[in-house]
Amino acid sequence: MSKEAKLELDGKSFTLPMVEGTEGERAVDIACLRNYTSCITLDDGYANTGSCLSKITFIDGEKGILRYRGIPIEELAEKSTFVETAYLIIYGHLPTRAELRQFSDLLTANANLHEDMKYHFEGFPSSAHPMAILSAMINASSCFDPGLMKMGNAGRFDLLAARLISQVRTIAAFSYRKSRGLPIIYPKSAYKYTANFLHMMFSEPYDDYEIKPEVVRALDLIFLLHADHEQNCSTATVRMVASSQANMFACAAAGVCALWGPLHGGANQAVVEMLEEIHREGDDGSKFITAAKDKVSGKRLMGFGHRVYKHYDPRAKIIKQACDSLLNVLQISDPLLDIAKKLEESALKDPYFVERKLYPNVDFYSGIIMRAIGIPMEMFPVIFAIGRMPGWIANYKEIAEDPKARIYRPRQIYVGPTLTHFMPLHKRK
Ligand code: SDX
Repeated sequence: MSKEAKLELDGKSFTLPMVEGTEGERAVDIACLRNYTSCITLDDGYANTGSCLSKITFIDGEKGILRYRGIPIEELAEKSTFVETAYLIIYGHLPTRAELRQFSDLLTANANLHEDMKYHFEGFPSSAHPMAILSAMINASSCFDPGLMKMGNAGRFDLLAARLISQVRTIAAFSYRKSRGLPIIYPKSAYKYTANFLHMMFSEPYDDYEIKPEVVRALDLIFLLHADHEQNCSTATVRMVASSQANMFACAAAGVCALWGPLHGGANQAVVEMLEEIHREGDDGSKFITAAKDKVSGKRLMGFGHRVYKHYDPRAKIIKQACDSLLNVLQISDPLLDIAKKLEESALKDPYFVERKLYPNVDFYSGIIMRAIGIPMEMFPVIFAIGRMPGWIANYKEIAEDPKARIYRPRQIYVGPTLTHFMPLHKRK
């Protein structure tokens, strides 16, 4: 394999170095391109552009491979928990018993919010989307910790990371309770991460929610499967904000906003809205598939397709199995699951989807599990954000610890008006 790339331009030849990753991925290093040629590259949607070297997550989209710090997602899904996987993603190794205990205790100790945060919740209308509340409250929470504002406080990283991972869950639960006019339920130190979230979501002051192990396991798996995914839209946003040396909470709040979009983390909500529409109209899915193939319809088969996976998203496979087993245990038969399976079956045989290599992604079945647990649809992207927090923090950490880190500042090609001059108001037509 060549160690450099040749570029012929305007009768001149330029040599650009190649970069190769540990899994054989190769990139042309264009750091000197503009100095050499006074040209830049242009890449709509960054589909061909790497923004960084990272050691956190490896994806092979052609083979449907996903590994966190080298460990296959299938093994972590079967053998690990969200908290243990969060530690792996952030610190780069599976924790020892002592490290896991310390991390878990830090999460428990930081589960509650500053009491004055309650007044911020009062300010939101009950109709406020929980992703708007989540982003606002993550930043609000940082105001109660003046020491947080500086990026360079490495000594406080562990505490701040644990506080962010723990509080994102509390903020989410409090926003749900507020939206339903229910009293907030404080975290209980006896409960571990996911059980505590379910407790804060569904318990009453007079009656504790029954914590079913199967439900905890299913939701913990959802968090784990969402924990990181290399340079997706929201993680790239977190790195963009971290590159200006903004604090960890500001970076996470920006990540929440990017994740909210229906093409990204908002897709799990859009999938269930799509399935409900199909169910309501008594369509067996074929009408919707026809519309999804017709660009004019403005409809897409939500939960299908992926910028990187041109094969089945390995997470979708795991979630689909978890779906079946949870609904079986809870004795729920959800017509939306049947519709989803029929849509998948038809799409995987349809040349439109096959030619474009469109397969189910992580969002296609995840909403069915959340519905079965009783999580309302508007909370689905929030669940995604809770799961993705360790990945965002790990990417923040890579930038914060990089002495050579530079601010992200892409170039552009200007296609606007050439030189013109100001026209006084009385002369304008
Ligand atoms: C996530 O990046 C990540 O890693 C994200 C994520 C993570 O963990 O962080 O995996 C989480 O965001 C998963 C994706 C969730 N989004 C959806 O499910 C929304 C539906 N899917 C799409 O809109 C789309 O597939 C994207 C956004 C996921 C990817 O878009 P791309 O890579 O820009 O692809 P594209 O829009 O250029 O599509 C290529 C072609 C087009 O048709 P042609 O112009 O070639 O004729 O495929 C078509 C598209 O119209 N197409 C679809 C489709 N997705 C793509 N047609 C119908 N239904 C779809 N879902």
